[in-house]
Amino acid sequence: MLRNNLAGVALTLHFLHVHLAHLRIRDFRNYARLDMDFAPGFHVLLGDNAQGKTNILEAIYLMATLRSFRGVGGAQMVRHGAKGYFVGGRVVGQGDHEIKMYWALRERKLTLDGQPVKKLADYFGALRTVVFCTEDLQLIKGTARARRRFVDLLLAQTQPGYLALLQRYMHCVRARNALLKQRLVDEAALESFSAELVKLGSDLIRARQELVPKFSPLARLAYRRISHDAEELRIEYQPGVKHDFAVELAQSRDRERSFRATLVGPHRDDLQLLQNEKSAAQFGSEGQKRTLAIALKMAQAEFLSGIHGSPPILLIDDVMGELDLKRRSGFLPLLEAARKSSGQVFMTCTEENWPSELGRDLQRWTISRGTVLGVPPPGGPPAALPAPAL
Ligand SMILES: Nc1ncnc2c1ncn2[C@@H]1O[C@H](COP(=O)(O)OP(=O)(O)OP(=O)(O)O)[C@@H](O)[C@H]1O
Ligand SMILES: [Mg+2]
Repeated sequence: MLRNNLAGVALTLHFLHVHLAHLRIRDFRNYARLDMDFAPGFHVLLGDNAQGKTNILEAIYLMATLRSFRGVGGAQMVRHGAKGYFVGGRVVGQGDHEIKMYWALRERKLTLDGQPVKKLADYFGALRTVVFCTEDLQLIKGTARARRRFVDLLLAQTQPGYLALLQRYMHCVRARNALLKQRLVDEAALESFSAELVKLGSDLIRARQELVPKFSPLARLAYRRISHDAEELRIEYQPGVKHDFAVELAQSRDRERSFRATLVGPHRDDLQLLQNEKSAAQFGSEGQKRTLAIALKMAQAEFLSGIHGSPPILLIDDVMGELDLKRRSGFLPLLEAARKSSGQVFMTCTEENWPSELGRDLQRWTISRGTVLGVPPPGGPPAALPAPAL
């Protein structure tokens, strides 16, 4: 009896892993129409340049975060000549979910399990992904905004109330800025927005402050593993508020008059990335910056796995081609670990940067001009049929 129960537990644990079971795309980028079924495990999207490999990862990431990792708006993702795009999927694992999103210039729809999504906080969590892409370099080289986004996504993916808090805070910043732009500032209204700003902002600061010491060791380990460097990575939270939010906000009042914007608060936070106590952005080599960006993403994946007990779906775009042999061998254990834990991985490659170290036990898809073919494993039957033409 006990043995039966234990077997049941093991079975349940195995099936807890969340994976994307079906992807459905209409008029998105260079895809007129695409329907794909995916098993858990390792998927390689193989094809020449400009065929649509990254576009598939972009669609999956879009479902998970409602953003493009390329930092573009909806209009750019609509297939040329079409009115709007549709991206949908079925997520299987910790409760099955059906996601449907439609975007057009004048119409947007997002449903989860057939119901319109009212609160975004309820939506996030259905599908968790971590993307590795060339744009990640902005985490190191870009402005503080890119690093704030990284921290915010991490917190939104792990703390239920965080996204709503962030939205309320940003709404308050915008409302306060609008007041500051008026010719005659309504001091009483400003006062009440200031109080709200301090209240919400302090909660944000606390959440970010608590995150960094938990996340930083994971990033340090990932960095060491991938770079084989003796260099130590350290991440430091650099709050826009130094000591007392209310006092510093009041002290900035004169400067606010000339800038007509809120100058103090967590919307000005940053993360310092230090290699041997030196700024990675200022002193790191290009290779070191790239390695560091990947290490941050590896740490994000580990952090999510630790909290949710199930690995996020990894979307890996062209990373192998960017790494030298030594660094590549540091990245492979992450892929191996994902494979062992039956997590789901989608990785794009061209024939040239195909990582032969991964062996042949992969589900391969060939992408050519916006259509997808499943490539049979050696000796096996075809994995899938071509996507139907329009
Ligand atoms: N809105 C759009 N409508 C139609 N086609 C688009 C749209 N946006 C991008 N494309 C096309 O999608 C193709 C690029 O797709 P994608 O970026 O997925 O290529 P890729 O296979 O990842 O290539 P690479 O190996 O170079 O990264 C290009 O041919 C581009 O012209
Ligand atoms: Mg690409």
